[in-house]
Amino acid sequence: MGYFFIWKSLRGRCCCYKFNDGDRSALYFEVEQGKTSHQAFQHLIGFMSLNRRKFLVVLGAITGAAALGTLPAACQPISQTPPEDQSSESGDTFQLPPLPYAYDALEPYIDAETMRFHHDKHHAGYTKNLNAALNKHPQFKKLSDEDLLRQISTVPEDILITVRNNGGGYVNHKMFWEIMSPDGGGEPTGAIATAIKETFGSFEEFKQQFNNAGSKRFGSGWAWLVLDGEGKLKVTSTSNQDSPLMEGMYPIMGNDVWEHAYYLKYRNNRGEYLTQWWNVVNWQEVNNRFEKAKA
Ligand SMILES: [Fe+2]
Repeated sequence: MGYFFIWKSLRGRCCCYKFNDGDRSALYFEVEQGKTSHQAFQHLIGFMSLNRRKFLVVLGAITGAAALGTLPAACQPISQTPPEDQSSESGDTFQLPPLPYAYDALEPYIDAETMRFHHDKHHAGYTKNLNAALNKHPQFKKLSDEDLLRQISTVPEDILITVRNNGGGYVNHKMFWEIMSPDGGGEPTGAIATAIKETFGSFEEFKQQFNNAGSKRFGSGWAWLVLDGEGKLKVTSTSNQDSPLMEGMYPIMGNDVWEHAYYLKYRNNRGEYLTQWWNVVNWQEVNNRFEKAKA
């Protein structure tokens, strides 16, 4: 026995997870233009992070899609019963968001194994550690994740380093998955394209500055395009998991230059990773973030 849940991703993709009873393995299906791909999905983290309200939405999606006949045969729900321990992590303040695409969707630029460990281990770890720290000072659970970083100076000393590192890691990676796409790459579009040209002179000049920020970051960190406190675009970088939000700036887009983001495929060649990463940049989402920040 098992069950499925599906949802429509932000980019209009129909995704379907099949979970097997009795263990935490599952199969992942992404339905795109009538094709179904699947691969092992080893952890129930994405599902376990769903709260009950979302789960009911999922059941509605299953029922609706099945009624419309839009699901492939392999994705017909066979049970709508959640596992007994479904609620074990639903009380956490911050939830690990599922990847909006399959682990191998960004191949050949980012390999599936890197994506699996990056999301299921590293991002999951930041999420777990952040929630554990906030349990010691629950008044901070009222803040949004971004506001928590904006107000990092008010966080008590005993959890400050943990929240700084893991709260930054949580928010940074939430953005990171969304600003990449298997349909990404090419040149920017929309308002961000105009703003980049006005600020940097050309897209190529912007890319060079951004890549320099990433290659010159010693050790682990991020390269960023931010909107600064005066509403101007700027290229910068941060160390570790520090976020521009901690410095009064808004991260429009960022590239993760920790070795865990590229070492399996690119080894020590961070420069090549930085160059190839542009092939997966989701400009639509970057533009969404820009327009939201400007509003
Ligand atoms: Fe990372």
